Amino acid sequence: MNALVTGVAGFIGSHLAEALIGDGHKVIGVDCFTDYYERSRKEANLSSLMCNSSFKFTEIDLTETDLATLVAGVTHVFHLAAQPGVRHSWKRAFREYTARNLDATQGLLEACAEQPVERFIFASSSSVYGDHAALPMREDASPLPVSPYGVTKLAAELLCRLYHETSGVPVVVLRYFTVYGPRQRPDMAFHRFLLAAIRGKPIYVYGDGRQTRDFTFVSDTVTATVAAGTHGTVGRIYNVGGGSQVSVSDALEIVAACAGRPLDIQRKPCQRGDMRDTYADTSLAQRDLGFTPTISLTEGLRAEHEWLSQLSTVNP
Ligand code: UGA
Repeated sequence: MNALVTGVAGFIGSHLAEALIGDGHKVIGVDCFTDYYERSRKEANLSSLMCNSSFKFTEIDLTETDLATLVAGVTHVFHLAAQPGVRHSWKRAFREYTARNLDATQGLLEACAEQPVERFIFASSSSVYGDHAALPMREDASPLPVSPYGVTKLAAELLCRLYHETSGVPVVVLRYFTVYGPRQRPDMAFHRFLLAAIRGKPIYVYGDGRQTRDFTFVSDTVTATVAAGTHGTVGRIYNVGGGSQVSVSDALEIVAACAGRPLDIQRKPCQRGDMRDTYADTSLAQRDLGFTPTISLTEGLRAEHEWLSQLSTVNP
């Protein structure tokens, strides 16, 4: 592959680029270092890639770039660049979501309509489902997002479908379910919980803690994404989930075990934009991509805890 990875300095993008290079592919990585969280964290994500001759990095904003030039010679597009965060996506911030999740995606699809690629993998989200889909969620359930972020991801999926049907862009859509692990974004639950546990600070739980997630370890997410690039069925949507439905409260027991100390748990109100439950039916991904999640929540949380402990030692 001559792969383009957008959002390469992010949590999942950086792991994906490392895996692709490990498999012998060449990677062009792009990122615009949005200010959603610190640039220094994203630069750290890229540090091992930067010294690899199979990796070329360019700092660009997809909404302000000649995308035809960018995709020239690219065989596979992994479009992970996005404005993330379900709870942050209300009010004026929404314009960042429309620009980064819709305008950027449409521009990239347009470029791939002109210059054919073998696969265009789009990183979507479990947040397209909302609270009405039956559990476990199947890809053919009617999506009804409960956050503005989820609305933009759903609209971007529809753009992918549109460019596939009208222009033959070979899209494959992946719906990631709450991905965690080393380099996880600092606004996400496990990053906040583990860091607070390490530092002996309070942990804030939204609502009653009985909401559930199908937490997915980042290496499993990456395995599914690489497989989608090589043999995902064009035009199809796949759930990528970790394989179990766990409540926030139960996950906190594992966090406490990782930290080796009791947690100071405090309650906050339910947050607008949060789904109540997620749980993926991954039979399609298993059948077409050979995907089976391999990392248990306990193993995965230990790995994230170790990463954050090291970071805290360097930067207390
Ligand atoms: C995550 C990502 O942030 C989204 O970008 C992604 O699209 C989404 O997963 C998805 O899978 O579709 P979320 O499930 O909200 O969204 O992930 P976390 O931030 O890890 O939150 C997990 C749960 O912990 C939520 O119920 C949230 O309310 C709760 N939480 C989070 C807390 O109780 N306290 C916190 O400080 C943070």
